[in-house]
Amino acid sequence: MELEPFKLERYFAKYEFNVRYLLSSSDCDGFSMNYVLSCAEHGEMELWNNLTLGYTDSLGHPLLREAIAKHYNTIGRDDVFVLSPGEANYFIMQLCLQKGDEVVCMRPAYQSLYQIAKNIGCRLHYWEPDANGIFNVDDLAKLVSQKTRLIIVNFPHNPTGYYPTKGELDRIIAVASKHNTMLFSDEMYHKLVHNPVNLNDSLCDLYDNAISLWGMAKSFGLAGLRIGWVATHNRELLHKMKLLKDYFTICNSAASEILTMIALNNSERFIEVNLEKIRSNKLIFASFADRHPDLIVDYNEPMAGSTGFIKLNIEISTLNYTQRLVEETGIMMVPAEMFEYGNSHVRIGFGRANLQAALQVWENWMKR
Ligand SMILES: Cc1ncc(COP(=O)(O)O)c(C=O)c1O
Repeated sequence: MELEPFKLERYFAKYEFNVRYLLSSSDCDGFSMNYVLSCAEHGEMELWNNLTLGYTDSLGHPLLREAIAKHYNTIGRDDVFVLSPGEANYFIMQLCLQKGDEVVCMRPAYQSLYQIAKNIGCRLHYWEPDANGIFNVDDLAKLVSQKTRLIIVNFPHNPTGYYPTKGELDRIIAVASKHNTMLFSDEMYHKLVHNPVNLNDSLCDLYDNAISLWGMAKSFGLAGLRIGWVATHNRELLHKMKLLKDYFTICNSAASEILTMIALNNSERFIEVNLEKIRSNKLIFASFADRHPDLIVDYNEPMAGSTGFIKLNIEISTLNYTQRLVEETGIMMVPAEMFEYGNSHVRIGFGRANLQAALQVWENWMKR
């Protein structure tokens, strides 16, 4: 099957390791290996020191799956399957969908959430934010019918940072359960909720027919581990995923599994640090937006996650604008074109320590 190139990933591939400022990253700054190991308890350090680098359990290390299960209310070790997040997206679509199926997906969205379904030959319906930047559940309800095979949601949302209230989430579940539709919930930014009182449970804990995806890249700032997992009560799906993985990575990196376990068992030492940075960067950006009301015409402050999506008042497309910006200043910003969502938004990433420095350079460039 020939897949369309992944626009956002190709754009990052072009710039990520050769520019001075990444102003649109969705991952938070990566923690150091020393920091992760400094969080380890005695038993975890023993596992690390005695680790041999052979093949690993293809489902994921049993202790790792136990550490993962502790982050859910209704999920046990055997309801979890460890694999890379991209692999998980691909497997779920391949196993759950067939040509002609109707699928509802949020838009804008991380491309693999809709592209694989499109390639399979599904009919896509897009749930988009309203004029106030809200993903209105009434709009979702209009898109879902008896024929809908899968609803794909992503909260906290990349790129807008939208996060539903508990009431909205209950209504989303009601829409799905009315037609007994499967929900795929990409929760890569789970627990990165700026006001902790708003934190929702994972969808796999709230709806039996849900598949939840989470991993280390975003909430934890450990993208280099390349570890994610699926949590679901759908044991049949997990079994089929296991069979598919034998043709892909077979199993996970032994070292990454132990480091993931350490981070999960000490999650506040990662998530809280990232949240602090995001909250402080939001304030810095709000002041930047206040200073430039002619440029930034639409900015709904993100409620969760590490990104926001802003509308620029410019005479050229955002693709042209961001290309000039990166060439003349070394600031890389992701334009709306990478999300196939018009040509007037850019994504801002709030998880990087050098956001203020990058904004300063952008500001000087505009003055020039
Ligand atoms: C919504 C969403 N899902 C999945 C992924 C993939 O995660 P990873 O980079 O850990 O493979 C990303 C990465 O940006 C994402 O934003």
